[in-house]
Amino acid sequence: MEHQSVTVLDFGGQYNQLIARRVRECGVYCEIKRFDTPIDEIVAAKPAGIIFTGGPNSVYDMTSPHISEEIFRAGIPILGICYGAQLMAYTLGGEVSSCEKSEYGKIAIHTKFRSALFADVPGDNIVWMSHTDYISRVPEGFTVTASSADCPCAAMECADRKLYAVQFHPEVTHSEYGREIMHNFLYNVCGCKGDWVMDNFVENTVQSLKEQIGDKNVILGLSGGVDSSVAAALLSRAVGKQLTCVFVDQGLMRKDEGDYVEQTFTRMFDMKFVRVNCRDRFLRELKGVTDPEQKRKIIGTQFYNVFWDEIRKQDERGFFAQGTIYPDRIESGRGNKAGQGSTAVIKTHHNMVKMPDDIEFEGVIEPLGELFKDEVRKVGEMLGLPHELVWRQPFPGPGLGVRIMGEITAEKIEILQEADAVFRDEIEKSGIACDLRQYFAVLPDVHTVGVMGDHRTYEHLIAIRAVTTDDFMTADWARIPYDILARVSNRITNEVEHVNRVVYDITSKPPGTVEWE
Ligand code: XMP
Repeated sequence: MEHQSVTVLDFGGQYNQLIARRVRECGVYCEIKRFDTPIDEIVAAKPAGIIFTGGPNSVYDMTSPHISEEIFRAGIPILGICYGAQLMAYTLGGEVSSCEKSEYGKIAIHTKFRSALFADVPGDNIVWMSHTDYISRVPEGFTVTASSADCPCAAMECADRKLYAVQFHPEVTHSEYGREIMHNFLYNVCGCKGDWVMDNFVENTVQSLKEQIGDKNVILGLSGGVDSSVAAALLSRAVGKQLTCVFVDQGLMRKDEGDYVEQTFTRMFDMKFVRVNCRDRFLRELKGVTDPEQKRKIIGTQFYNVFWDEIRKQDERGFFAQGTIYPDRIESGRGNKAGQGSTAVIKTHHNMVKMPDDIEFEGVIEPLGELFKDEVRKVGEMLGLPHELVWRQPFPGPGLGVRIMGEITAEKIEILQEADAVFRDEIEKSGIACDLRQYFAVLPDVHTVGVMGDHRTYEHLIAIRAVTTDDFMTADWARIPYDILARVSNRITNEVEHVNRVVYDITSKPPGTVEWE
């Protein structure tokens, strides 16, 4: 598919993916590449523009990522952000110095000249800064276009050469006009047309899947998560019954979730659907195991054993498809991880699994390999997937296995499923679900004393956890109103057998993690 593309050169900044997402949100396709990608390769891809990301280093540190001056002579518009701005100044003969006072947070800047970058942006506006070095002298031919009280060069440019640089971060929402500035660079400077729209994506992808697959078969491992569900829906639209979805239900999903996934896909989509119920096999393997890492390992290994066994049963395998998305393929600060054509590497949350040697396919298909999560969701909605599936909260690969401390047993799974269902029901009914990124129950395997009528009880404690977060790297516990917590607690202790106490987890991340194991 031919569309204009922008290259985001990654110098190790924490916001590199955010920059790429913002570019895409402006309707322009972009890819993240390592800072040390050969310049010939960057130029040969004919990007409409290049963006240098920020990074934690100082340009004067020789171990910092640098770039040859050649890139500036390629005639391609460049926007440098933060470290990327300093690098542009340094490489082109300007000067970078250390600030007496680091600038951090929301800072007022004043734009000094008419600039294509600041079109329709008020002269005084607020941006997000986070830097210790600053550009103390701009290179020859450059003009300072914005400054702040502590930073004489908050932006500079050499419009003739289409080189632009900003000390601040236009990609974060704290920069009031960040979106406009990104848009201005893409459209006013790079001349982008905005040809990256999801309508075209669905149509073009379905067409190219049809061409690629022809009359062969395709097998996809369906987990019920957003990515594999959207990949399944796209493939089903392209090749219908030539698609076989294998759904391994290890019995560690939330209450009734396995049935929900099966019903959704068998009713709504044209495909062959194979559900493998293997709870007992998993329970056997997990018997007596209490160490969290060992449990994770067993669940992961068993999952793939079952999956490969099922695949071995399929004749005429054709292609292997998976719901890999763009962030799975990139690694912060390093550009592409798996890279294009990363055959036989299977996506999981925390690790990559190799396909067994005896299983052969015509090739691997990753229909979502270019998309960010928000784009995947858009595609899912366009394909008619139910809202609750598209907007499903993240659910760990090992499922409830990481929410039951100690040994996993059938009884504990049932207790947790029931308690979790009550909690989710109350959150959804109360209308606060959209404010929370993740909310679930945990079974800590602790028994506490309680009282019921005249009897003393000694039953399970349930913990409930709800977090707000942007990216799951940090998270805060959600301030759920007391009356909702009270209803949750009443219902769980009344409705779920073997539970006599409920506690609410008020730990943020760090120091805690979102999950308990
Ligand atoms: P933590 O507990 O690391 O969780 O703060 C951050 C996010 O990752 C999810 N998570 C997992 N997902 N396999 C997964 O697929 C795992 O082993 C796993 N552990 C944590 C967690 O639910 C949260 O969204």
